[in-house]
Amino acid sequence: MQQIAFLGAGIMGTAMIRNLLKAGFPVTVFNRSDAKARALEPFGATVAASPANAAAGADVVMSMLIDDAACRACWLGPQGVFDAALDPETVLIECSTASRDWIGELAARAGERGLRFLDCPVAGRPDVAVEGKLNMFVGGDAATLEIVRPVLSAFTKSITHFGPAGSGIAFKLIYNVLGAIQVASLAEAMFAAEAAGLDLAAAANGFATGNTASPHIIRHAQYMALNRHEDPVQFSGRNRIKDIMYGVQLSESVGAQSDIGRAAANVFAQMIPLGMGDRNDSELIDALRIVHGRPPAVKPRDGR
Ligand SMILES: NC(=O)c1ccc[n+]([C@@H]2O[C@H](COP(=O)([O-])OP(=O)(O)OC[C@H]3O[C@@H](n4cnc5c(N)ncnc54)[C@H](OP(=O)(O)O)[C@@H]3O)[C@@H](O)[C@H]2O)c1
Repeated sequence: MQQIAFLGAGIMGTAMIRNLLKAGFPVTVFNRSDAKARALEPFGATVAASPANAAAGADVVMSMLIDDAACRACWLGPQGVFDAALDPETVLIECSTASRDWIGELAARAGERGLRFLDCPVAGRPDVAVEGKLNMFVGGDAATLEIVRPVLSAFTKSITHFGPAGSGIAFKLIYNVLGAIQVASLAEAMFAAEAAGLDLAAAANGFATGNTASPHIIRHAQYMALNRHEDPVQFSGRNRIKDIMYGVQLSESVGAQSDIGRAAANVFAQMIPLGMGDRNDSELIDALRIVHGRPPAVKPRDGR
């Protein structure tokens, strides 16, 4: 079995690591906060004190970190992956939703060392990650993908190869902007329905059964109608803004536009000064209530 070094035991990384262990892969985990890595020991993971220690001797080094800064620290920082004496056969994989600029830089650094690299971001929320059914978008060499396909299959239900390095993250960012726009516009629509005196459960049902229905709209309309949001937080407002801005940057860098993406980022940005940046994206409706002088929801609408 290929030896895996995995950087990042956050909510997504933990689910991916557990599925790798379940599939029989030996996994060495590094996480900035040691406790989250230690929590994986009972499932068979080995814990490393640094990314370099995790990567030493690994066949595959992969990361699932929050953003460019976290990725840079773990791959290129002191005691980062590139400080390790890596075998030339090692495959480096970036699963994080980072910027395309970062992916380009990491791919170039891997190339300078003669190492193979794939960008492999994923779509699917943490419950989907637990089930091992993420959708993955891959950029990089097709032959390299075949070497690591058994590893990636441990936590995915589909793997789509888009082309050379950078193309997986390009699709993921475009995809995430579209998803974020749906959530932001749903929050505005639900808040408008409430302000117009309409019943929110009926509005959620209307959106979920009409041409507006998408998995995002169906799920998030329920959270907003019931005032019952995910606990623990599954995807925060701050992360929505991060993803949108990487996506806007990508679109504009290739001569496309993302006016609606920018607008969605501005809508989510209202959560930040209210101290709601780390709350669920669906709680955006509460930020709109506060901004427009209405009381935020304080208890579940169904009274439980
Ligand atoms: N949640 C979702 O629904 C979802 C779905 C698809 C893709 N994603 C993407 O998956 C990635 C991980 O998201 P998540 O939901 O798992 O987030 P998370 O639970 O907040 O985990 C973030 C991870 O990044 C690490 N990290 C943050 N800042 C760091 C730094 N400066 N240096 C080193 N490590 C740092 C954290 O370490 P600590 O534990 O020490 O903080 C943790 O391991 C993100 O790129 C996200 O966009 C998320």
